[in-house]
Amino acid sequence: MHITIPILFSAATALGYAIPTNSLQAREIATNELSQFKFWVQYAAAAYCENNYVDQAGSLLTCWAKNCPQVESSGATIVYDFSNTTATDTSGFVALDKANRAIILSFRGSYSVRNWISDIDFPFVDPDLCDGCLAEFGFWSSWELVRDPVSAVINETLSIYPGYELVVVGHSLGAAVATLAAADLRSRGHISTALYAFAAPRVANPALAKHITTQGNNYRFTHTNDPVPKLPLLGMGYVHVSPEYYITSPNNATVSTEDIKVLEGEVNFEGNTGTGIPLLDDFPAHHWYFEETDGCKGPGLPF
Ligand SMILES: *[C@@H]1O[C@H](CO)[C@@H](O)[C@H](O)[C@H]1NC(C)=O
Ligand SMILES: *[C@@H]1O[C@H](CO)[C@@H](O)[C@H](O)[C@H]1NC(C)=O
Ligand SMILES: *[C@@H]1O[C@H](CO)[C@@H](O)[C@H](O)[C@H]1NC(C)=O
Repeated sequence: MHITIPILFSAATALGYAIPTNSLQAREIATNELSQFKFWVQYAAAAYCENNYVDQAGSLLTCWAKNCPQVESSGATIVYDFSNTTATDTSGFVALDKANRAIILSFRGSYSVRNWISDIDFPFVDPDLCDGCLAEFGFWSSWELVRDPVSAVINETLSIYPGYELVVVGHSLGAAVATLAAADLRSRGHISTALYAFAAPRVANPALAKHITTQGNNYRFTHTNDPVPKLPLLGMGYVHVSPEYYITSPNNATVSTEDIKVLEGEVNFEGNTGTGIPLLDDFPAHHWYFEETDGCKGPGLPF
């Protein structure tokens, strides 16, 4: 599946126009883009269903919470899955979707994110992606733990299905790992990898965020005052990947095109960042990204 990137930006840039920030911020979402967003989030939701990440290679993806109907109807199969990878608790799968000609790497979130509000320790590590680039240690370690087998499976699958799109998705902690995984995969030959990151925390220092922004093909979503994208705090040296697709509709409401603002910049107070300090009380917004994204979460996930 492909999203048509608005021609306005690249064409105007090529002509040497300076586009006022406001016109970018006012960019409207097209109906076909919205359906793409509502499709890819279902792959992020599917990573919460234990039946998709525990020992299921070869089987169809299904979601008992009924929040991945289009994934189910695409007939997507699990090529590789991973779970319980030591302390970082990285879980997810690589799936093959022939109907949409895509290979999807999806990472599961975890409810330990609630602890992040009181956890002040988000150390940086050098992921060796670019000069001066630093990534959050825990998120990067999660990717590193599965990188070798996952990359091998992706390459193998792409060699059988050349031309398929590589799409990396995740929600919450899963979105953090997905962001760094996409950045790394792009730098290792898969340059056009698409990223759909729902409710991602900040993962990078300004140099790395800029690097990932420049790689392009990033769709990073936030929802109203969701506390998770506000962490780690700006004051700790973390910023976001741009742009932000800021969803303004209330919890549990159907999202329409007017409910999404596209905001440029690694720090932009027009969106989620400008809605105040991260509060536990605001967690309801974290669960709702077009649908109840974590509806499949099992009792095994720490709360
Ligand atoms: C993963 O760890 C949890 C909690 O320790 C356990 O209940 C579950 O069975 C483990 N899953 C696998 C596939 O090992
Ligand atoms: C996978 O393929 C990419 C692009 O062809 C290549 O750069 C990379 O080294 C390969 N990785 C592995 C683990 O084989
Ligand atoms: C949204 O749905 C969840 C789960 O069904 C429910 O717990 C919550 O109260 C709902 N919130 C609103 C604002 O309706």
